Amino acid sequence: PFKALNELRQSTPIRYDNSRDCWDLFNYEDIHRVLKDPATFSSTRGPGAGTSILLMDPPRHGQMRDLVNKVFTPRAIQELAPRIQAISDELIQQLHGDDMDIVRDYATPLPIIVIAELLGVPAEDRHLFKRWSDVLVESAEDSTDAALAKLNQKKDQNTLELKNYFQNILEIRRKNPQEDLISSLLKAEIDGKKLTEDEVIIFCVLLLAAGNETTTNLITNSIRILTEEPDIQVELYKSLDSIPSFVEEVLRYYPPVISVGRIAKQDVQIGLQTIKAGEQVTNWIGAANRDPLKFANPNNFEIERKPNPHMSFGYGIHFCLGAPLARLEAKISLQTLLSHIREIKLVSSINIVPIPSTFVFGVKNYPISFT
Ligand code: HEM
Repeated sequence: PFKALNELRQSTPIRYDNSRDCWDLFNYEDIHRVLKDPATFSSTRGPGAGTSILLMDPPRHGQMRDLVNKVFTPRAIQELAPRIQAISDELIQQLHGDDMDIVRDYATPLPIIVIAELLGVPAEDRHLFKRWSDVLVESAEDSTDAALAKLNQKKDQNTLELKNYFQNILEIRRKNPQEDLISSLLKAEIDGKKLTEDEVIIFCVLLLAAGNETTTNLITNSIRILTEEPDIQVELYKSLDSIPSFVEEVLRYYPPVISVGRIAKQDVQIGLQTIKAGEQVTNWIGAANRDPLKFANPNNFEIERKPNPHMSFGYGIHFCLGAPLARLEAKISLQTLLSHIREIKLVSSINIVPIPSTFVFGVKNYPISFT
């Protein structure tokens, strides 16, 4: 999609799309302007608004964010490093031969296991997590009413199962708190008031939805670059210490989330256009990340690009809560993988299935061979 996004940024940096009833922004500066101004551009939209932090506005957003920041500190995340290392090692040991599907065998299980442990759910329930998180991010096969109805039914069933599951876990943790995220959320208070059971559950579900597929795609997109650009692969193997800056460039070049939405709360001028109160705005991160006014040679992949102010984790008050975790998982998993395998090649591009979504960039499978 990046070629199309580049073209749209050049031809119509701001446009109203009648077919979606929505504004599209493609310039870095315009998107930055929107994301840093939640008073004008609200995040409350769609189902879940008001209860999920992602869809909250100030002041409730800030209170909720302070609370989850306390349990999601960079230090708490850094403490997960040995576990992420152990999980990566274990997944590597399960490989045999000289090929694998990077999505199925490595990039999918890793973040799911990490989130399950962080939340404090029993290890044997991880396969349920995988199924639930898949349905959470699933899009309809086509836009016919029948397909949409079928998907909605599936999602409702999924939500019900998740809710029942977490209600049980919450019950157990209330009686017997542990050193895990769910126990911390149950203890936490805003202005002397505890979170409601629904709020705790919705936050857990958000972590599953926001944290799993995105991180899977970051790891997969990293390997994808190495197969698409053999020179980059050679350069990276010369210095695996460059992995953190390589990961930042993957985030910019192939962002797992390519757009985020907002709604204007009042009439506001952006560039030459006036966006009216109540209108939707789609902010195309995938276009901003390649804006030549912000990045030199934006369509070149440069491992050591500095500075690299990509917006792949968003910007402003909703900046991704899981960014330190996603970065750590990508760093450790890639270091481990690349120190075990070499000469990575895509086996065949014939059956690669892109994830059918307008706001996610990734693939469902990616078979590689290596030595
Ligand atoms: C918010 C991307 C991984 C939890 C966001 C936003 C983006 C994003 C773009 C901002 C949305 C907006 O402004 O509307 C990503 C990417 C990831 C990733 C690209 C992986 C490479 C994670 C992980 C977690 C997580 C691992 C948790 C375990 C969240 C939460 C928010 C969020 C809770 C909402 C924060 C708020 O509203 O204050 N993420 N994310 N994300 N992300 Fe991530």
